[in-house]
Amino acid sequence: MSTDGTASSENPVNAMAMAVLNAIQNPVVMVDEGGFIVFANWEAEAFFGASAAHLSRYRISTFIPFGSPLLALIDQVRERKAPVNEYRVDLSSPRLGQDKLVDLYVAPVIAEPGSVVVVFQERSMADKIDRQLTHRAAARSVTGLASMLAHEIKNPLSGIRGAAQLLEQSVIDDDRALTRLICDETDRIVSLVDRMEVFSDERPVDRVPVNIHSVLDHVKAVAKAGFARNIRVTENYDPSLPAVYANRDQLVQVFLNLVKNAAEAVGDRPDGEIILTTAYRPGIRLSVAGTREKISLPLEFCVIDNGPGVPTDLLPHLFDPFITTKPNGSGLGLALVAKIIGDHGGIIECDSQNNRTIFRVLMPASKDASLDDAAIASSTGPNR
Ligand SMILES: Nc1ncnc2c1ncn2[C@@H]1O[C@H](COP(=O)(O)OP(=O)(O)OP(=O)(O)O)[C@@H](O)[C@H]1O
Ligand SMILES: [Mg+2]
Repeated sequence: MSTDGTASSENPVNAMAMAVLNAIQNPVVMVDEGGFIVFANWEAEAFFGASAAHLSRYRISTFIPFGSPLLALIDQVRERKAPVNEYRVDLSSPRLGQDKLVDLYVAPVIAEPGSVVVVFQERSMADKIDRQLTHRAAARSVTGLASMLAHEIKNPLSGIRGAAQLLEQSVIDDDRALTRLICDETDRIVSLVDRMEVFSDERPVDRVPVNIHSVLDHVKAVAKAGFARNIRVTENYDPSLPAVYANRDQLVQVFLNLVKNAAEAVGDRPDGEIILTTAYRPGIRLSVAGTREKISLPLEFCVIDNGPGVPTDLLPHLFDPFITTKPNGSGLGLALVAKIIGDHGGIIECDSQNNRTIFRVLMPASKDASLDDAAIASSTGPNR
């Protein structure tokens, strides 16, 4: 096999093997006895950010973090002459980038003693697919419950509230506080049920090309006027970002929930900050379960805060309904966010570490990627 990622066309078997290796959507490299990368498929070139020819001049240790378990794994496979899998290996480095969590499959190459093949599976992608499916299931589990609650609770509640209001007129002043209490509490339950009702709404949403920056600016204005009055909110936008094909009101709901959570996490610490970012990342593609199709989610919107972070034990269930650590929280905010993003064909994930919590929304690009005047007008209309 040649080292430049191309096979000699004279040998059809070689050419076929190359075609197969290059078709694999995971980085695959072969490391020889001396540790040199003697083969890299196209995905591996992208993963290491270098051509196969360049890679072949160096040992694999040049490209991965010092002391990485991958080196020990390669030695182990050479010694035992048997394949090994290792999960969640961190290969983050300035060269490979942050959050490079991978699953590794290392196997000996029988025909080339001392050589091993390493297959990398980028973990974040696997996690994203996993989580995406879990969030959809979580939202679905609320759906039935929500429509039942709407029927069985809201109607009797309006009767109770009406009765309390009638009583209010005839009771003595001291007892009026009690009738008010009944009204306030029924109102609270009605508003909770109203929030849940959104989950039972299965109608397709009206979507138009929306300018995400106008959505974020609106959310920022609402936040600064209320719950984030004393918190610094900064933007880091990619101004050339194409429109997102979405329902504007629902996007506002998504980012209001995320920014509100961020503000609540930051609390009143003096250096508290919320950052809103947008970026175009064409590289992010996801497999769709049950099909060969790959969808591209190039639009990235993040809400970042420097609060204490999400408790680790909460992370796996973060987007499930009724998960809350707040005394007055309903735990419906993130479940709603996950449902809306899922309905739009996007995904959401959370990264939380060292006083930096990122909620990252990935969305497909608009069908009509160019923002025409009408779309801008409709998406920047009067603030609601
Ligand atoms: N930015 C964040 N930093 C730290 N923890 C967070 C953050 N966002 C969410 N969480 C955690 O996730 C939980 C669930 O959030 P979610 O928005 O679903 O519900 P809530 O905020 O508790 O209640 P509600 O949104 O209904 O008022 C929160 O209670 C909090 O513990
Ligand atoms: Mg919330």
